[in-house]
Amino acid sequence: MADRPSLPALIIAIAVLAGSYCRVASSASPAVEDELRGGGGAGGPTTMRRRAASVMVPITILKSAVSDGAVCMDGTPPAYHLDPGSGAGSRSWIVNLEGGAWCNSAKTCRLTRSSGRGSSDHMDKEIPFTGIMSSSRAVNPDFYNWNRVKVRYCDGGSFAGEAFDKDTGIYFRGQRIWNAVIRHLLSIGMANADQVLLAGCSSGGLAVILHCDQLRAFFPSGSTVVKCISDGGLYLDAVDVSGGRSLRSYFGDIVAMQGIAQNLPPACTARLDATSCFFPQNIIDGVKTPLFLLNAAYDFIQIVLSLAPDRADPSGAWRACKSNRTACSASQMSFLQDFRDQMVASVKGFSGSRSNGVFLSSCFAHCQSEQLGTWNTKPGGSPTIQNKGISKSVGDWYFDRAEVKAVDCRYPCDNTCHHII
Ligand SMILES: *[C@@H]1O[C@H](CO)[C@@H](O)[C@H](O)[C@H]1NC(C)=O
Repeated sequence: MADRPSLPALIIAIAVLAGSYCRVASSASPAVEDELRGGGGAGGPTTMRRRAASVMVPITILKSAVSDGAVCMDGTPPAYHLDPGSGAGSRSWIVNLEGGAWCNSAKTCRLTRSSGRGSSDHMDKEIPFTGIMSSSRAVNPDFYNWNRVKVRYCDGGSFAGEAFDKDTGIYFRGQRIWNAVIRHLLSIGMANADQVLLAGCSSGGLAVILHCDQLRAFFPSGSTVVKCISDGGLYLDAVDVSGGRSLRSYFGDIVAMQGIAQNLPPACTARLDATSCFFPQNIIDGVKTPLFLLNAAYDFIQIVLSLAPDRADPSGAWRACKSNRTACSASQMSFLQDFRDQMVASVKGFSGSRSNGVFLSSCFAHCQSEQLGTWNTKPGGSPTIQNKGISKSVGDWYFDRAEVKAVDCRYPCDNTCHHII
């Protein structure tokens, strides 16, 4: 019988994505942290506070979406945060789909519904924009002056569901939220964009892969450059430590409960079952819009959620290893090396396209584009592959400055990682 990830694993995942897992952030160099706070070192405490407040971006509740049935799990309107662009960036847009796990059962969805991941009534009213979303030129040289939008995640299904559960009264309207928010952004200026980048991490990174070609279709004239970056979204259909497929079972529940099949790429569902088409490895080769895959090959969340969830590890043999990589035995490390090799293999065909980008770091990490310490290229900042960090790699790919197909050597060869376990 297949295993499902435990609730504690989900809570860890949500905590990580909510940014409460701070070891990565705290490893940023003082110079980078100072820059992220918006301080040049000269201001006193008051100046610092004022400047720090300026990087917090307020929420906009999209009330008009409710009439289209585009609602969060509890029926409240969807929401986004916009930091307007300026100067040369004023006709360029980043649309970032927030991540934060999924829910796969009445029990877990009820919990999600009464949190910020299921209700705009419970969302933070302002959030910091960091990494690829930062307005600091030093931190984010290629995108700092773009219009930057964070779309809040409150559907539990990577913006792809279309269902209503009568028993629980929970809405799964991710696809309607996607459509309503994009149409709204087009109406407030994005329709005139020269350049657009769809971004997102984790369940938001998966959402990017699922919606990349759909975003392209919103710009029919072809005069807008549209590209997409999925961070930490390359969830593999992998065999877990008990020989089952925990993540397949989990994804299968989500796809069925949330009516996701109808919104998956038709080219995939024509040849494979719907659950398979929720796995990036089966759809990335069919994405026509230029796509960049940024992922840690030893993805912390995949280790916890997919490879060694508690249900697949009843004896607890993996408990130490999955919270501390140096506690992994030789055979456990060999299992993780095999997982890394599967991830590298999964992008083989995808990498063949000139317009696609790849950055697979050999780090025990998750979500590297918005973490304070992993996006920037300064010393102590981003992990590098062949001496090039993440923000430089993504910029080189987006602006066609260089082809980026960066696959790291196997752990532990890379000493530029910020491991989070
Ligand atoms: C991680 O595991 C190693 C080896 O078992 C141990 O020496 C170390 O104290 C552990 N670190 C933490 C933070 O638990």
